[in-house]
This record gives sequence, structure tokens and C-alpha cells, in this order.
Amino acid sequence: MQASEAIKKRRSVRDFKPEAVEDDTLMELLEAAVNAPTAGNVQPWKFAVVKEDNIKQELEKAALYQSWISRAPAVIVVMADLNRAAAAYGRRGVELYCIQDTAAATQNILLAAVEKGLYGCWIGAFSEKGVSKCMDLPSELRPLVLLPLGYPAAIPSPPPRRQVEEVLF
Ligand SMILES: Cc1cc2nc3c(=O)[nH]c(=O)nc-3n(C[C@H](O)[C@H](O)[C@H](O)COP(=O)(O)O)c2cc1C
Repeated sequence: MQASEAIKKRRSVRDFKPEAVEDDTLMELLEAAVNAPTAGNVQPWKFAVVKEDNIKQELEKAALYQSWISRAPAVIVVMADLNRAAAAYGRRGVELYCIQDTAAATQNILLAAVEKGLYGCWIGAFSEKGVSKCMDLPSELRPLVLLPLGYPAAIPSPPPRRQVEEVLF
């Protein structure tokens, strides 16, 4: 699949078939993640794949009860490694670069997923404290994105986009 096709086809999907996602496929998605660009090639990230129902339910609770999250066969938790970010770039590393780096990794996962017929949704609305607690994360790992993934039960139509002419400064 061409990159341009994956970019167009990617959609936020919140309704999944119960079918599991194979471990090999999940590893390929993480391979796509670690190929994202990072400031100074620091790669200040960690990823967790959650498949256990009880932890998915805890994640859902932390994510303001977005009640479809635990129905996804897998949830990738994208985290910034703040120690690694700080060691390389101090405050700017912690406050900016690691957030941009993990965002690039997240988008890579979503685009690589499309090629495999998998869809998901970038979840930013969650209690970081709640996620850290249920995942038992050390303090240097900041959870930034939850990414429920699976084979879609339905793919919604694209929501409206602002046109390039409107956003071109
Ligand atoms: C930083 C960020 C945070 C988001 N947080 C949530 C969220 O908490 N819950 C949700 O259902 N969708 C969330 N979304 C998905 C957006 O709602 C979605 O991308 C947007 O409506 C455009 O739809 P599309 O992804 O299908 O193009 C988030 C997306 C981004 C980039």
C-alpha cells in the first residue's frame, strides 16, 4: 500500500470485531513505531501492549469511561521515557521533544495498521495517574497515548477537514 493511500484510509475506529490481533502483527506495528523520527535520534519512548481484560477495563476507567476501549482486542500504551528525554535535552526534551517523538511513533503505528486491515483510535483523554497506577509504571514513564486497536466492525466516514487554503499562513 502506498503511504498516501494509508494516510487517506486511516480513520478513528471505536468499534471492533472480537477477532484477536496476532502477536507478530503487533510486533510489526511496534517496528513501525520505532522507525519514527526523534529529536537527536534519542528515541525517548516505551510501549506496552495490553491484552488482559482486567487491565483494559482499568485503562477504560482511567480514560473517563470511554466504554468501547476494553472491547478492543489490544491496547498499545505509548509512553515517554522522561529520564532519557531529560538526559539528552533537559527541559525542552521533557516538555516538547518527547511529546513530538511519541506522537510521530503513534501516527506510524496507525498508518502501518491500516496496511494490515487494522484500525484504532488515538486516545488522549485519560488520567495519567490512573494509567500509571493500573500499569504499575515507574515515575520516569509518562503515558501519553492509549491506542486501542483491532479489526473494525465498521469504518466511519471521514469527518470534515479544514481546507489547505484556509490553514495556509
Ligand atoms: C491528541 C489526540 C487525542 C484524541 N483523544 C481522543 C479521545 O480521548 N477519545 C476519542 O474517542 N478520540 C480521540 N481522538 C481522535 C479524534 O477524535 C479524531 O482523530 C478526530 O475526530 C478526527 O477523526 P479521524 O481520526 O477519523 O480523522 C484523539 C486524537 C488526537 C490526535
